[in-house]
Amino acid sequence: GRTLGDLAARHDLAIGTAVDPAALTDPRYRSIASTEFTSVTAENAMKWEVTEPVRGTYDWSAAERFMAFAERNDQKVRGHVLVWNNQLPAWLTEGVASGAIDRAELRGILKKHVQDTVRHFKGRVWQWDVVNEAVTDSYDAVDGRIGYKGFWAEQLGPGYVADAFRWAREADPKALLFYNDYNIDAFGDGGPLDKTAFVYRMVKRLRENGVPIDGVGSQAHLSTRYGNYSAFQIADTLERFAGLGVATALTEVDVRNLLPAEATSDALNPLLQAQAFDYSALLTGCLTSRHCISYTVWGFDDNHSWTNTWDFGSGPGREALAAIYDTGYQPKPAYRALQADL
Ligand code: XIL
Repeated sequence: GRTLGDLAARHDLAIGTAVDPAALTDPRYRSIASTEFTSVTAENAMKWEVTEPVRGTYDWSAAERFMAFAERNDQKVRGHVLVWNNQLPAWLTEGVASGAIDRAELRGILKKHVQDTVRHFKGRVWQWDVVNEAVTDSYDAVDGRIGYKGFWAEQLGPGYVADAFRWAREADPKALLFYNDYNIDAFGDGGPLDKTAFVYRMVKRLRENGVPIDGVGSQAHLSTRYGNYSAFQIADTLERFAGLGVATALTEVDVRNLLPAEATSDALNPLLQAQAFDYSALLTGCLTSRHCISYTVWGFDDNHSWTNTWDFGSGPGREALAAIYDTGYQPKPAYRALQADL
């Protein structure tokens, strides 16, 4: 049969997955990862804590195993991630906390990290997530308004966002440079707690100031308990971003279910149907907005979904099993929904 990647190619759309290079030793994982997808993202292997565990000593080994896999399978690579508040090396956060690294030095360290990383993979990366998750959500907003959050904004001020894009462009002028975030699937009321509107205004300003940003990535980590956007809403959001002159992508799609949800592919399980509905709305929204260039799932099987171990504790009960294949690598209704949409 034709794979998701084959079907999507007819629409000029890349279908991607996050890949854990350690899992590639499992032939079932490897086989699906290499055949169904035309794009891949390293789930963790390119993050700073992995690539520079000791200051000044790079370890590209996991990232290179990932790149070799992508190249062997002719898959486009989404580079993930250059500037993020999470998964930073301890030498960096501890150095700043102890005062051993001051602000001026920190800015130089960030520039070197961005440029060394982008140069290392120069010509091999299609899209880079240059800045990831830079702003608060409605639930962690300070003083009732969305704003910049975390380590980098606190240390360097929000200007680091524009700097990072300029540094990345210098290092690889051909890579598409993305801002990436979650909970930007739909516009709200445009008020101080509307995260999508905040990101929209940020990207608009960056473009007006000539900052080299080429794309907006919407992670699209959803749950069947909330969100439940229509394809129209998704398309509308993506089109409004595209109106700023940028491409868009759905970069980390997954849809959690409240447990217990049977880890089966039983088409009669209503939770699996609800999950399929959300996967499908996102894909149809992306296809409808012709500036949406890739649709990437954040892991494709329920053995490796990060949602199984991450604490989604924002309400009663645990949410997990967010992928399109079950723990036995059988396609779930969500897989078949994507196939039907393409
Ligand atoms: C997650 C990985 O999937 C986990 O394995 C890791 O422990 C934490 O990070 N947004 C992002 C991704 O941009 O990098 C995150 O990936 C998920 C949320």
